Amino acid sequence: MTTATDVRIGVIGGGLMGRELVGVCGRWPLLVDHPVRPRVTAVADPAPAAREWFRNSAGVERLTADWHELVDSDDIDVLYIAVPHQLHEDIYAAAAEAGRDFLGEKPFGIDMAAAERVVAAIDRSSAFVRVSSEFPFYPGALRAYDYAASGALGDVLDVRSGFWHSSDINRAKPINWKRRVETCGEIGVMGDLGLHVAHVPLRLGWQPRLVYARLDDVVSERPGPDGTPVACDTWDNALLTCTAHPPAGRDFTMLWETRRIAPGHANTWFFDAVGMDGGVRFSTREPTILRRFAMRDGEQVWEEVQPGNVSAWPVLSGAIFEFGFADALLQMWASYLAERAGALGDRFGTATPHEALSAHRVFDAALRSQRSESPQVP
Ligand SMILES: NC(=O)c1ccc[n+]([C@@H]2O[C@H](COP(=O)([O-])OP(=O)(O)OC[C@H]3O[C@@H](n4cnc5c(N)ncnc54)[C@H](O)[C@@H]3O)[C@@H](O)[C@H]2O)c1
Repeated sequence: MTTATDVRIGVIGGGLMGRELVGVCGRWPLLVDHPVRPRVTAVADPAPAAREWFRNSAGVERLTADWHELVDSDDIDVLYIAVPHQLHEDIYAAAAEAGRDFLGEKPFGIDMAAAERVVAAIDRSSAFVRVSSEFPFYPGALRAYDYAASGALGDVLDVRSGFWHSSDINRAKPINWKRRVETCGEIGVMGDLGLHVAHVPLRLGWQPRLVYARLDDVVSERPGPDGTPVACDTWDNALLTCTAHPPAGRDFTMLWETRRIAPGHANTWFFDAVGMDGGVRFSTREPTILRRFAMRDGEQVWEEVQPGNVSAWPVLSGAIFEFGFADALLQMWASYLAERAGALGDRFGTATPHEALSAHRVFDAALRSQRSESPQVP
């Protein structure tokens, strides 16, 4: 049993994701022998109602409307920055310049140029920075990653990495910042879901070197605050057909799919890869199943494996229990804080700022491809 060090976290942006972190800290005792013990001690959000939510959370000592106070504070060890995309650049760059360690939400800047400036600031800084992407921490996703990384696919044929939900299928759903170019970014759904799809392929070294994009803006207006229709000008769905360039071997076909309107899918993250020697499939729609392909006695066999509740960082929960979204967030934070403490070992790491920038380069190529109706180089 190791003695855990306290880590004081300041949350900038106390919305949906900021609140999730309080839940993560509450479930922390499930982790076995983790080197740190985090708690949220400060929150910055200009919205009084967002700040109020944290008032009764044990350990929260400071609530402020001004994020600069948290960046300047020596009473905070780590920042979690989870704000609308047009604010990423200013806050991330300021945190990096102040040498503050932080986990930043994706897409890590509203566009590629912003991401380039943020990553340059991080490269000049001593801050330890990673980017939020929790789905690869599902046990089945980790097993799929390990399988692909082992070379078991052989000569890779096709890869599909996707994230589909349908929260936008209801045309009467009110507008919000994620549905406006001004606040979400021109990349639209790719900014919202794209890094989740890019993280595993990029970690495997599968860089897209050519991108052909089909982008769809299906719902062009949504009810504004008073019910009057206002422009909903972001891309709803994006299908990127990429020529992937692996570190060794032949180029192959890789699809990155991000959809806010995928009928029948509430929140489905998936990774499929097939090659000449093997194949692997995992989807959060069937989180207890990992599928693997093999030739057996001349027959083509897809077999099912149950990865169980076996996480990157060990947990007290039973290995036969089901793993879910809250567990993925817990594992991502366990990974980030262990890596910061130099204790991650060979476990899977949270997305890096350079991976987020590589993803932005692909999304930028997708925008150019959509305009020119031709493949583009990221
Ligand atoms: N990793 C994931 O699964 C996941 C899921 C949803 C959203 N996100 C990302 O998290 C980030 C936040 O999204 P969300 O869904 O929590 O949004 P949200 O709208 O629920 O919360 C954003 C919060 O930021 C606050 N804010 C606005 N201006 C601010 C400022 N100047 N200083 C401090 N706070 C400010 C808002 O008042 C709001 O409370 C985005 O980058 C989004 O892409 C990640």
